[in-house]
Amino acid sequence: MTTSNVSDGLREFCASLDELSAAAQQAFAAVADAAALEEARVDFTGAKAGKLKAAQQGLGKVDKADKPAAGKKFNEAKAAVEAALEAARVRIHTVDISGVSSTLTGALASFDPTQPGRPFRLGHLHPVTQTIADMKDIMGRLGFTAVEGPEIEDEWHNFEALNIPAIHPARDPLDNFYLATATALAPGSSNRVPGPAAGAAPEKPLLLRSQTSTVQIRVMESTPPPVRIISLGRVYRPDTADATHYPMFHQIEGLLVDRGVTMADLKSVLRLFCQSYFGKDEVHIRFRPSFFPFTEPSVEVDMNWQGGWMEMGGAGMVDPNVLRAVGYDPEEVTGFAFGLGVERVCMRQHGITDIRALYENDVRFLSQF
Ligand code: PHE
Repeated sequence: MTTSNVSDGLREFCASLDELSAAAQQAFAAVADAAALEEARVDFTGAKAGKLKAAQQGLGKVDKADKPAAGKKFNEAKAAVEAALEAARVRIHTVDISGVSSTLTGALASFDPTQPGRPFRLGHLHPVTQTIADMKDIMGRLGFTAVEGPEIEDEWHNFEALNIPAIHPARDPLDNFYLATATALAPGSSNRVPGPAAGAAPEKPLLLRSQTSTVQIRVMESTPPPVRIISLGRVYRPDTADATHYPMFHQIEGLLVDRGVTMADLKSVLRLFCQSYFGKDEVHIRFRPSFFPFTEPSVEVDMNWQGGWMEMGGAGMVDPNVLRAVGYDPEEVTGFAFGLGVERVCMRQHGITDIRALYENDVRFLSQF
């Protein structure tokens, strides 16, 4: 700064910075090991009592008109000090491998292995997955084995064997996600896409299962009584999404078939299940008469929630027609079945009021659970 109109204050400030950066060059050039380097680093660039910090405070004493020039000078001095520090770092971390001096430059050289690491942010299970695990655990203790069934089903398992005949309104294509199989897209169908070659055997209509009751059939078809199973998984219905509906949700299905099973067993198991889940004193369940083609009698299951009742799903005694369809003898064995919404339980547990929040996959929301 040699211009004549430079103020004394600014000149002094600049001189002290020149002195500081010269001292820094010297000090950093002289350090011989990491400990000395660290000492020099703190001396010059320490955030609390470093010399740079002290010099920066001198900025306040410079005349207002000189502030921009002084600021610029300070930044230059700071850059020079930091460059000297970096050069010393590179020099000290230079590794000598069998006579070949290889210099670790850039990022590698400034890597300090003595610094504590940055912790990884661990993910965790989705709240619905946690609910499913808890349910399996509780029902497992009541003696129920968890089994799985396919999400793509045929009409036999989703309807027919469950006593839902072809004319039943529950089979309406508008209420189910049918898949575009060869039959569904037969010649003449308006939205025909290239299908299997002409003359191929007509395929069975397939759909995304609308209920986990399909698994009852699959289990009974392949196992003689007694059976005591639960099945947890996704089901699909073309519902418009709102606070309590979503086109995909999860159900827990329970099935117990043995000699002399009664409605009282059903209520005990459901009560025990809900009480183990939410705590004994809080939870009450109630049955309301209802109708399902595959149970007789049938009930809706409600659980108390926020001063009212929340519908959990359906249940009932397995209809003799269903037992016959899978080759069981309804004179020999009886059974109960239930199907409850997993999201409903999960929402009650966490006080979640909108099911859509579970599937927007906003980690800020999900990480709370
Ligand atoms: N499958 C029925 C539903 O999805 C629920 C249910 C299961 C009812 C088992 C009775 C017995 O609504």
